[in-house]
Amino acid sequence: MRFAISAPASSANLGPGFDAIGLALDLWNTVTIDTDGTPGEIVNDGPEAALLTGQDNLTVRAMRTLADDLGQTLPPFSLHTWTEIPIARGLGSSAAALVSGLRAANHLLGERLDDNALYAIALRMEGHGDNVGAALFGGAVLAVPGIRRPTFLWRGEDLGLTCVLFIPEATGATWAARAALPNEIPHADATMNVATACGLAIGLRARDHELIAAGMHDMLHEPYRARLFPHLDTMKAAARDHGAVGAALSGAGPTVLALVTPECAGAVTEAFTETASRLGVPGRVATLPPVATGARLLEPIASGA
Ligand code: HSE
Repeated sequence: MRFAISAPASSANLGPGFDAIGLALDLWNTVTIDTDGTPGEIVNDGPEAALLTGQDNLTVRAMRTLADDLGQTLPPFSLHTWTEIPIARGLGSSAAALVSGLRAANHLLGERLDDNALYAIALRMEGHGDNVGAALFGGAVLAVPGIRRPTFLWRGEDLGLTCVLFIPEATGATWAARAALPNEIPHADATMNVATACGLAIGLRARDHELIAAGMHDMLHEPYRARLFPHLDTMKAAARDHGAVGAALSGAGPTVLALVTPECAGAVTEAFTETASRLGVPGRVATLPPVATGARLLEPIASGA
């Protein structure tokens, strides 16, 4: 049996939705599983594969986790990964690898679990549902603790927005970005985040740009992470000054995401490019539309193809 699974990049948080909101983006990693291949062989390929060398393979770990949960043994297989999602930049490459593994193992073992059951395993492995929810289901998802299925904030209706991203060359480490957070925050900051996160969620649901703009402000993590990513505040301001509806640190960083109307995408791209050059931060600017499709099984591939 030979098949492939593609999973999208994702941007977590969108500002105030820390660990709760994720948005799938139109950039894909693909893993190909071949039960007739060399057992245990893992080949990493693709434009962003270099940083994968020597890493514990999260796709295989997710496959084993699912098989253990079912009390089953996976057949021998080889794994080929095609990686287009930049690694360790806050674009959900780990989540894509993880949900690809769950979909792959579920397929190998006869599709015994539905998507919500896959999500529950992803949640258990990851600890929060923002990236894994978006990578598995696509769209904009809200992960509410206590509910083992995502709540959809957007599923492909015309949102009238795309994403412009500044992706630094330097990588970030999620553990470091989480370690930078304080144990306590002022009550006034938490109060503000309740209002902005609710505004953002309802704004996405209603496709209300004014509410999204008012909602994309965070006091929980971005002020603390800005110390790790000195470009963050200047890039966010540059995006907003050039017409972005909102701007935020993408996931745990260091990428900065701007939500923009298509008419403003060019101006925000130029603003990001000019600001990064002025600040001396090497990186590139990309436009990635939100995508309503999550990790999907590609058509069965003939052996040897
Ligand atoms: N919500 C997470 C964070 C995303 O910001 O740390 C990265 O796992």
